[in-house]
Amino acid sequence: MTETPAIDPSFFTQLLPFDPFDPAFHENPYAVYRTIRERGSVVRTPMGLLAVSGYEECSSVLRSRKFGWGDGASVAEHFSTAPDGSVVRPFMFMDPPEHTRVRSLVGKAFAARRVDRLRARATEIVVDLVEAARTAAGDDPIDLMAAVAHPAPAIALSELLGVPPENRARFQVLSNDIAHGLDPSVFLTPEEIARRDNARAELNEYFAELVALRRAEPADDLVSELVAAEEGGDRLTGHELLVTCTLLLSAGYATTVNLIGNGMFALLRRPDQQEWLRANPDQVPGAVEEMLRFDAPVQMISRVALEEVELAGLTVNPGEQLMLMIGAANHDPAVFDDPDSLVLSRTTGHNLGFSLGAHFCVGAPFARLTAQVAVGTLAGLDLTLATDNPTRVPNIIMRGLAELPVRVAG
Ligand code: HEM
Repeated sequence: MTETPAIDPSFFTQLLPFDPFDPAFHENPYAVYRTIRERGSVVRTPMGLLAVSGYEECSSVLRSRKFGWGDGASVAEHFSTAPDGSVVRPFMFMDPPEHTRVRSLVGKAFAARRVDRLRARATEIVVDLVEAARTAAGDDPIDLMAAVAHPAPAIALSELLGVPPENRARFQVLSNDIAHGLDPSVFLTPEEIARRDNARAELNEYFAELVALRRAEPADDLVSELVAAEEGGDRLTGHELLVTCTLLLSAGYATTVNLIGNGMFALLRRPDQQEWLRANPDQVPGAVEEMLRFDAPVQMISRVALEEVELAGLTVNPGEQLMLMIGAANHDPAVFDDPDSLVLSRTTGHNLGFSLGAHFCVGAPFARLTAQVAVGTLAGLDLTLATDNPTRVPNIIMRGLAELPVRVAG
């Protein structure tokens, strides 16, 4: 567990509707979310944060133009400063019309990569990792996080962006530091904040060089595509480009790692579901969606009210902060039958794991591909858990495992 910051613990329970340092919360947040939802699908905490746990309410906020990031004060720690002193927001934290402009240029670059064409290479990456881990482990358990869940997205994402293999190990460390630092700074130790900020600065510097290289000589990768993306004569500026590359890496790595890790842990706890998936390998895409619903890597999304608005009978004032508990929304019994069970054949209900509306995850097709290939390959093996209680990463926004020891038969 991360060291608890030196702040009176009652601060956190006044700010949030749960105790973020309670091990029982990390073990099963869904039981805690249920009690919060029973108090109301939107509740105001003593410090004035609006905690939104209902599916309908989360969806309507995500779809509405009345909520956004506003002046960005609540997320300014994730911004970068350009050499001319101007502040550059990653587009994840922009509101329309700025957001629409950058998002559409990035969308164009992504579309040009035709993600489905990368399936064969993704399969090769995962199969190689599994084989290497089996050979290295012999009869010992394999840590699925270290063997597959971390390296598969790291390699796939680096290849997508065009980061050379020799830089990958460093990239994994830096993206992990950023992922751990996603929680609001009050939840982090000064060391974690420093690691996050240094990691972002190092990545920005790295991408400045890579962008310059690709500008001079385009290659078959997403960075070259981003450099070339153009719409109505508009292009991303130099600093926008490198901040966007850093965003793609930091938004895309730990999330995919944790979808694979959380999903495999959930699967291995349910031998009946594991058997069903082995018998129905063509159902892997639906199974991955259910894994995303069941134990989403991103548990919370922030928003700020941009104008006065009614939400679940409460008047929300401009500038008020909302915490959209999408992990809770994904277990809302009003939308999902038997929400606390993993049911891979589930077909009803659309989970909010990739968000909704203007900020819907731009990397979702790529994340789905990587996770489907990893889960599909691993589901074909005879795996059992080597522990019932693997260590968790103690973050609040990003939910994941530090390790997942498994045994492989045959
Ligand atoms: C946005 C989840 C993978 C890049 C988001 C959001 C969520 C999310 C919840 C919305 C945040 C909001 O509404 O404020 C996930 C999950 C993933 C994943 C669970 C893996 C399982 C990826 C990958 C990439 C990526 C692989 C890039 C290659 C982004 C970007 C945004 C975003 C750039 C911002 C989009 C915008 O603001 O318009 N993601 N993501 N994500 N994601 Fe993902």
